[in-house]
Amino acid sequence: MRILVSGGLGFIGSHTVVELINHHHEVVIIDNFYNSQLSTLYKIERITGKKPAFYEVDATNLETLENVFQRYDFDGIIHFAGYKAVGESVKKPLDYYFNNLVSTMNLARLAIENKVPKFIFSSSATVYGDGVSPFNETMELLERTNPYGETKAMSERILTDTVKANPNFNVVLLRYFNPIGAHPSGLIGEVPNGTPNNLMPYVTQVAKGIREKLFVFGNDYDTIDGTGVRDYIHVVDLAKGHVAALEAKIVGVEAINLGTGKGTSVLEIIQAFEHANNIRIPYEIVDRRPGDIATSFADTTKAKRLLNWEAKLSILDMVRDAWNFEKNL
Ligand code: WQD
Repeated sequence: MRILVSGGLGFIGSHTVVELINHHHEVVIIDNFYNSQLSTLYKIERITGKKPAFYEVDATNLETLENVFQRYDFDGIIHFAGYKAVGESVKKPLDYYFNNLVSTMNLARLAIENKVPKFIFSSSATVYGDGVSPFNETMELLERTNPYGETKAMSERILTDTVKANPNFNVVLLRYFNPIGAHPSGLIGEVPNGTPNNLMPYVTQVAKGIREKLFVFGNDYDTIDGTGVRDYIHVVDLAKGHVAALEAKIVGVEAINLGTGKGTSVLEIIQAFEHANNIRIPYEIVDRRPGDIATSFADTTKAKRLLNWEAKLSILDMVRDAWNFEKNL
């Protein structure tokens, strides 16, 4: 299949492009370098032996997007491009709503105009709000606490309504849990902008000596050791989930969780990192971070049933590959 990948040079996008090429799909990437670098394109080529077509395009710009659709007939679109920092979204709500919603609407419009049958959207477990885990796709979505999460829930609704009005348009809403790790080659991985907000990039920067210690946000949650529990998933497993979603026969619209179904606490992540990499991670317990929930993990049965996909890699693989990438940066 020939697949358009928006945000294909970003963290999850680049790993998905590698897996698409490994599965013999033809990839056309668009990216505006908001949170990515051109060097990633050459790294994808080093890993796969193939250089995908690339266009510097901002998905909020309908005209430049149209040019790409005039050049190619696509069999599918995977839409990753978007702003993703929760805290920043609270300070810049208009930027987040504009960028994340307009890009989704532009791509959906062009998909329909050009009769592209399949659209895969990067959603997030954040749409479940502070509900009770395991999160199941049939659950009613609770209120989100930040504009970033709201853009994901609104994009899901926009795409669902668009499917209702267009019977030949099929959409998979992939709800990611907590993607971490990096490609085992050490060539591609997560490069945060400024101080990392997320746990794993912060841990790897402490390991490297860029930061003195990790601040653990609360140890009084109702969890195994009091620290927050999340469903961490290796980014390579997550990328393979996209290939499975593309190749599966999905009719209409389906929301599907991509997680492992297992929860791991912050202290367990620290221990796993120290054990796998033989590096000590100094940490200090501080107050809870506003908006955090105690526990989040996936019900993975729908992904197994509809996509015949499940995550294979362990927490040790994730912390080893995350460090292997960071130390080579
Ligand atoms: C994980 C755990 C923290 C940093 C967020 C977004 C979500 C998605 C992924 C994506 C929590 C604790 C963290 C630190 C810590 N967005 N922690 N010290 O919050 O589950 O999900 O990122 O693009 O929408 O909400 O992930 O990695 O920030 O936190 O103790 O320095 O680690 O409290 O328990 P989160 P996270």
